[in-house]
Amino acid sequence: MAAIDYDSKIPNNVDLGNDRRLQRALEAWQPNFIDWWMEMGPEGFQQDDVYLRTAVSVDRDGWAVFGHVKMPDYRWGIFLTPLEDDRKVNFGDHMGDPAWQNVPGEYRNVLRRIIVTQGDTEPASVEQQRMLGHCAPSLYDLRNLFQVNVEEGRHLWAMVYLLHRYFGRDGREEAEALLARRSGDQDSPRILGAFNEPIDNWLDFFCFTTFTDRDGKYQLRALAESGFDPLARTCTFMLTEEAHHMFVGQTGVQRILTKTAEIMKSGDPKKQGAIPIDMIQKHINLWYSLSLDLFGGEDSSNAATFFGAGIKGRDREHRLDEHTALDQYYAMPKPGADGKVAVEDVPLRRAMNEVLRDAYVEDCEKVVKSWNRALEGAGCDLRLTLPSRRFHRQQGLYEGLNYDPDGNWMTAEQWAARRDEWLPSKADRDYVRSLMTKAVTEPGQFADWIDPPARGINGQPLEFEYVKFCRHGA
Ligand SMILES: [Fe+2]
Ligand SMILES: [Fe+2]
Repeated sequence: MAAIDYDSKIPNNVDLGNDRRLQRALEAWQPNFIDWWMEMGPEGFQQDDVYLRTAVSVDRDGWAVFGHVKMPDYRWGIFLTPLEDDRKVNFGDHMGDPAWQNVPGEYRNVLRRIIVTQGDTEPASVEQQRMLGHCAPSLYDLRNLFQVNVEEGRHLWAMVYLLHRYFGRDGREEAEALLARRSGDQDSPRILGAFNEPIDNWLDFFCFTTFTDRDGKYQLRALAESGFDPLARTCTFMLTEEAHHMFVGQTGVQRILTKTAEIMKSGDPKKQGAIPIDMIQKHINLWYSLSLDLFGGEDSSNAATFFGAGIKGRDREHRLDEHTALDQYYAMPKPGADGKVAVEDVPLRRAMNEVLRDAYVEDCEKVVKSWNRALEGAGCDLRLTLPSRRFHRQQGLYEGLNYDPDGNWMTAEQWAARRDEWLPSKADRDYVRSLMTKAVTEPGQFADWIDPPARGINGQPLEFEYVKFCRHGA
């Protein structure tokens, strides 16, 4: 089961060759995916050879190989972790039943919705990042961007497989629609807010991969617990790939921080082409708050349904002691009309989005701690923080209310007057962009606003030619 069949048109470990109808349907979707990739994937680099990793097994050790590949030739495929004998539904009202190998009729619509919503984020991020190659700070970073992009493409494949395999005609229509929506488009936007926001520069990109890909980690962890077994096994393998995306983000921000700290020793970072710490803080505030929204409403009947049904668990549900979440309450702060917050007991199942958000916030706090250690190590006294989770929210209880990064309520006028202190202003964005007017393409060279990484990819040196350009190509 763990071995991946690379001989067939669509690499897979789901024995696709034995389901001719499904194979034909996916082979018909494949050229549409490639058309989408050529139109909306990384702009201007499709003929270049990129040092990419490709999954060759779903085993924890030695699951990937590295080699130079043109992105359109990447072997996107369908990889699930092995079927476990006797796996059960491990939480909610069906606890103890055998895990479902097919979609239970009563949950068909909610499951499809969850899979489509997850699937929609994958191509969306590729679209958001498609112009970044033109201002990459190094070949190393350019390669990392493309690695993230091809893997998000593979995550789309993962969700499209589920739609085609388990949802019949509706599923096939949803799979087409996943290639038709466009990030940021007025008429046909992507489903979730953060995935329609522009990613114009590499600070955005590193914050996005730190905070928004990390939302993905928690959504995937919750779905990896699912009683719908194929979804659980798909998400478990996606998490293996996802780890690299967060690594790219976290180390990317850190390399900017240490560079800035170094330059600050001899004066104003802005005069010397570095990104000031307060500008970095504003980008953190932006992407962290946009990502908090992705968890959904704090008090949510949908969340209760998903948990009760055994479709979406908590972060590492299998490690918890109690799995019904009945007769338990979550002490949830809720804002009144004047923005003042009072704690209310909410039935735990209704609070499952907030429970998942708690796990996410804790993880993000660790990231910020590590950045602060890096600042300290570089001899800089400034520190970064995460804003309050009430800050800049566009979903849930705090939607339409205004709070500063410390969580103090304010009027819309007060917010408007101070917004640019807390979120990237037009001037900030222009400045960051002014540092990134062209790509650094000499092997081993790095842009002036970022430090080199501690080591290369897959044991290769920093001077390695991570991307080989084909100058006379497209
Ligand atoms: Fe993904
Ligand atoms: Fe990702």
